Amino acid sequence: MTGAGNQATTGVLGVPWSTGVRRRDDGVVEVGGVGVDALAAQQGTPAYVLDEADFRARARGYRTAFATAFAEVGTGVDVYYAGKALLTVAVARWAREEGLRVDTASGGELAVALRAGVPGAEIGLHGNNKSDAEILAALDAGVGRIIVDSLVEIDRVAALAGSRGLVAPVMVRVTTGVHAGGHEYISTAHEDQKFGLSVNPGPDGGDGPAMRALLAAVERPELHLLGIHSHIGSQILDPAGFEAAARVVLRLRAELAERTGVLVGEVDLGGGYGIAYLPGEVPLDPDRIAKDVASAVAAVCAELGTPLPRISIEPGRAIVGPAGLTLYTVGTVKPVALDDGRVRTYVSVDGGMSDNIRPALYEAQYHAELVGRTSTAEPVLARVVGKHCESGDIVVHETWLPGDVRDGDLLAVAATGAYGRSMASNYNLLTRPPVVAVSGGASRVLVRRETVDDLLALDLG
Ligand SMILES: Cc1ncc(COP(=O)(O)O)c(C=O)c1O
Repeated sequence: MTGAGNQATTGVLGVPWSTGVRRRDDGVVEVGGVGVDALAAQQGTPAYVLDEADFRARARGYRTAFATAFAEVGTGVDVYYAGKALLTVAVARWAREEGLRVDTASGGELAVALRAGVPGAEIGLHGNNKSDAEILAALDAGVGRIIVDSLVEIDRVAALAGSRGLVAPVMVRVTTGVHAGGHEYISTAHEDQKFGLSVNPGPDGGDGPAMRALLAAVERPELHLLGIHSHIGSQILDPAGFEAAARVVLRLRAELAERTGVLVGEVDLGGGYGIAYLPGEVPLDPDRIAKDVASAVAAVCAELGTPLPRISIEPGRAIVGPAGLTLYTVGTVKPVALDDGRVRTYVSVDGGMSDNIRPALYEAQYHAELVGRTSTAEPVLARVVGKHCESGDIVVHETWLPGDVRDGDLLAVAATGAYGRSMASNYNLLTRPPVVAVSGGASRVLVRRETVDDLLALDLG
């Protein structure tokens, strides 16, 4: 891999960068018409930079692809933007303006979606251990769906809805046994993990947790069972997993109808659509995946003799991941001789695992380039590292950068829009970077940089 070859080229940088990223003739990279030199001068580094047009286009792309494919087989689709990937008030508004609903996973995410003006009816609330306060906040906001994750939560949501004199719209999250995703920690439909209710029978061969939860939800007058939910994992690049999970969920739906006479109207197939993180990687194509899943859903319903449910999906990463990059300044450069005779150049930047934990958490791979200038220097094998007190504080495990990389250089890491800011921490009491949107040649701060005063304000001494 010689990514440094890109350093001298001008024009659109292509995958894995957002569509608004190009290198100008003077060598400086711009995003959405704004040069990274100007962004760094105005906002400082590190900074998360979000290409608004790219986000909107991907949101529209998913909505249109799924609406078209499912209309062809005879049903409708709701696309929920999974706010856990990145949620700010502006981002929630963009999603809504592009026709998406918003999926939240905590009281905090719910509050941001509501602040953005997303109507409660267009919001879903997830979580494997929701607090009473979170459930009540969702009920009071009139959310369109609470996705229940355990048997005890059926009782909890029913009791809280009853206390408000409400009927709670719920979906039951099931685990289908389909194992998919980029890393064990982001695969969520196999049995040995915390999420959801298993579709497998119980140890005595009787009803398993999923069927028991569905039966309980049907019986409780304080609950309105909307449907069944399945999310099989994240960063999935093979469509087969979505189809397999859909089959399991649709069979469960048919079995519930046979036993209770209640045919639930909705099925949610979750998120998890994979993106490109490195040059040359091929992301899932929304048109293709939508067609494949729609025809699998139609075929299974025909086989079972059940009408099609309304479908929903919850993409997060596929919408916001490629739209973001992180802009850093290089601080130190250290060549190290490796045992195999090669030299690895450690390039330290002014952020690290506090603004992107994914390389440390999942061994996630990223791509970096110098963006403030071009260079014709021979590429060197480089490891981009942060400024934290951990040797595992790695931003990019292995990449090629021009051999004259030096302090003061601007370096950008591609495709950091999802699970960067949303998983950021204050480790070593670093302040979290701002989220800056760029569009049509202008930039706008969506979330300001934290200050040391913010940190001190929380510390009561
Ligand atoms: C229930 C649920 N829906 C949607 C998502 C979004 O996944 P992704 O960002 O990979 O599309 C997640 C991510 O963990 C999830 O747990």
